Amino acid sequence: MSSSTQNIDSVLHEERVFPPPIDFAKRARISSMEDYENLRREAHDAPEAFWARMAEELHWFKKWDTVLKWEEPHAEWFVGGRVNVSYNCLDRHLETHRRNKAAIIWEGEPGETRTLTYAQLHAEVCRFANVLKSLGAQAGDRVALYMPMIPELAIACLACARIGATHNVVFGGFSAEALRDRINDSGCKLVVTADGGFRRGSEIRLKPAVDEALQSTPTIEHCIVVKRTGSDVAMQQGRDEWWHELMQNSSSDCPAEELPSEHPLFILYTSGTTGKPKGILHTTGGYLLGTHLTTQWVFDIRDTDVYWCTADIGWVTGHSYVVYGPLSTGATVFMYEGAPNHPDPSRFWKMIERHGVNIFYTAPTAIRSFLKWGEEWVRKHDLSSLRLLGTVGEPINPEAWMWYRKVVGNERCPVVDTWWQTETGAIMIAPLPGATPTKPGSATLPLPGVEADVVSKAGESVEANAGGYLVIRRPWPSMLRTIWGDDERYRKGYWSEFPGAYFAGDGARRDREGYFWIMGRVDDVINTSGHRLSTMEIESALVSHEAVAEAAVVGRPDDLKGSAIVAFVTLEGQHAASDELREELRRHVAHEIGALARPDEIRFSDMLPKTRSGKIMRRLLREIATSGSVAGDVTTLEDISVLEKLRAEEE
Ligand code: WTA
Repeated sequence: MSSSTQNIDSVLHEERVFPPPIDFAKRARISSMEDYENLRREAHDAPEAFWARMAEELHWFKKWDTVLKWEEPHAEWFVGGRVNVSYNCLDRHLETHRRNKAAIIWEGEPGETRTLTYAQLHAEVCRFANVLKSLGAQAGDRVALYMPMIPELAIACLACARIGATHNVVFGGFSAEALRDRINDSGCKLVVTADGGFRRGSEIRLKPAVDEALQSTPTIEHCIVVKRTGSDVAMQQGRDEWWHELMQNSSSDCPAEELPSEHPLFILYTSGTTGKPKGILHTTGGYLLGTHLTTQWVFDIRDTDVYWCTADIGWVTGHSYVVYGPLSTGATVFMYEGAPNHPDPSRFWKMIERHGVNIFYTAPTAIRSFLKWGEEWVRKHDLSSLRLLGTVGEPINPEAWMWYRKVVGNERCPVVDTWWQTETGAIMIAPLPGATPTKPGSATLPLPGVEADVVSKAGESVEANAGGYLVIRRPWPSMLRTIWGDDERYRKGYWSEFPGAYFAGDGARRDREGYFWIMGRVDDVINTSGHRLSTMEIESALVSHEAVAEAAVVGRPDDLKGSAIVAFVTLEGQHAASDELREELRRHVAHEIGALARPDEIRFSDMLPKTRSGKIMRRLLREIATSGSVAGDVTTLEDISVLEKLRAEEE
């Protein structure tokens, strides 16, 4: 954590309160604050009995012997139990009325649609599970998935889960270098990809990036390629195979492995404060329970609902709330391949109308774009099917929340602002839409079983309305288990800042009614367009360019993205600052990490502000990037004249 976060001041004051609509509450699973308080009390007083009671909802091949083994910071949940996530998401529904109901309704960006019923999805998953096996994958092997948002991505996830292979989904917007690093860090045996996907009217090619990455990935044996766009790709004989060819001869008979509850389900890389991305490890039983329960609690999902979470499966939101949570409840999931403004800004609303979407879950950054594009695009469409709206990924400013409720929800739909992280696996703080009165900008109250608190630097609970650090005081079933290959970093990064509690970098305030107001990251992580990026990784990418001597990256508040990326760069002696170099450096970062990390602004500077011990003072750079001047304490600054220079360079 940086030294700049000793005190957190909270400035947001919001008085508006919206009780749950009466009709909604009437039919909700949890339909009053009294019900919520009862569950919360039950979980607080006897957590293990509570989670055991909840876990009865899942299908277990064998029940657990011990609910929780906790040796801080290591948790094992439902020890001795045998379970399979894909069985819970598929097989379980085949015996019921859900057999021939839509599991996935998909729309490609060009406009074609596909529907897979539960029986069809089950057959496809079994076939692909057999394909994986035929190429040598077994329980415990890692499989990389680098794919567009097409049903095959969900099929591949579920097929891995079926045989106990641990998937490592890499977002399709990441570069070849980022893919290579993630494959190597987790030691993947196979990679599944596609020729490309469609976004904003053009093809985003994936296979060439895979070819580049696979030049230095010694553990990869095979690459499976889905034909999505039909563009030309190079296929390397003996290594590359077409998905459709392998599937043709593959049997749809593939019983789900009876896996131990703690079997590794997936690794997903996310940005941390220092060093390379962290491979967050999630396991089977606890993760499934967390996503299953929260999908029911927070979305109050019904069998008749068409549910749409707009996240890409490349992020944790897509894992938990496109694939595992909703399918485990037997829901109908809508999935879309492309951009929200293709061919025009009404695309999302058109699809909500066409498919009769009832529950819509998206990110504040998207809502701010909708707001900017104007409400006429929304108003053109009949959105009366909607009954619940959700947001995730970053703090939502109250005005965007109000706009969402009014323009998209027509003042009828409850809005659930859900706080959670890659590490938490499932939603932690959020309203229960039939019970919790909502306040614009607040994620409201912790879910039952989540012991959240706001503490001072010294680890003591702070008083109402004081800012502090958001911690979780008890283990929960869907928590991360470790960082892949680096358990020490897990212990240090999450469990050492505040003794006995989990901390992953967010500041928060709790109001008099116990409502949580998340204030965003307090560490060197930038939340840009709802994506977590580490300043450190972008700096490393910049410094890997021959012209760059040193770089410091900070976030600057941005109306649309949440935070814009600003890089301060000092050059090697023989290189001169120029607009061409600025563009080249932006391209370089996109090449190293992906376009999502491309700096919005690059400022050249002779030197960077440092402490006497040589640490770059990002706090000062943040102030300069935001307001153009520095008001805070500069007594630890080694060379005060650097501030003058930075200011002068700005003018
Ligand atoms: C931020 C995404 C405020 C937060 C699920 C967290 C939020 C990080 C909210 C996790 C919210 C997520 N209100 N901030 N409702 N949801 N965040 O790992 O800073 O990509 O630590 O997981 O996003 O991002 P991640």
